[in-house]
Amino acid sequence: MTTSICLTTYSGLVLHLRELSSDDIATVMNLERSAHSHPWRQSSFEDCLKGRQKCWLAEANNVLVGYVVFAHGGGDAELLNLAVAPAFQRKGIAQCLLEFALTSITGKADMLFLEVRVSNQKAIDLYAKMGFFELGNRKNYYPTLNGREDALLMALQL
Ligand SMILES: CC(C)(COP(=O)(O)OP(=O)(O)OC[C@H]1O[C@@H](n2cnc3c(N)ncnc32)[C@H](O)[C@@H]1OP(=O)(O)O)[C@@H](O)C(=O)NCCC(=O)NCCS
Repeated sequence: MTTSICLTTYSGLVLHLRELSSDDIATVMNLERSAHSHPWRQSSFEDCLKGRQKCWLAEANNVLVGYVVFAHGGGDAELLNLAVAPAFQRKGIAQCLLEFALTSITGKADMLFLEVRVSNQKAIDLYAKMGFFELGNRKNYYPTLNGREDALLMALQL
């Protein structure tokens, strides 16, 4: 049976969270392409069905509105992907997904790490709001339309 978790965002939106299944991949890829300038490949989501990384979806009124991908092992954890459908952004969905990921990881890891494009100010603001601190930069880590850009490495003590 699929476990579903009900949460309410700070804007009052009711979310149902459940783990990714193979039937969701096409819908998730549509959201991935609409939210990210450089989307993940489908195979990265397929890996979540069999690997140590977990992908949890957020649905509102049975519509996919966001997801979070995270992994833990060896005392550390990583936030690997986080996206919210453009029409549903700034309603607290990412914050809810992150809080859920933190609850899932707490007790299994001491630190949660992530990388974010230095130009992605709204994501950096979100992570700062959640208590992440900046650890440093990875030079030319991400591709852009006309070159490369740095990643900001951030961490949260769990
Ligand atoms: C970054 C992203 C996940 C945020 O999702 P969201 O559901 O809109 O975020 P929330 O509504 O939960 O916002 C929580 C906090 O994040 C910050 N934030 C979110 N959107 C912001 C924006 N447009 N401008 C400034 N700060 C923003 C704010 O601190 C906000 O708190 P506040 O509303 O009290 O000011 C979403 O914009 C997204 O999917 N972007 C494209 C994919 C991406 O960049 N993913 C992260 C990769 S590392």
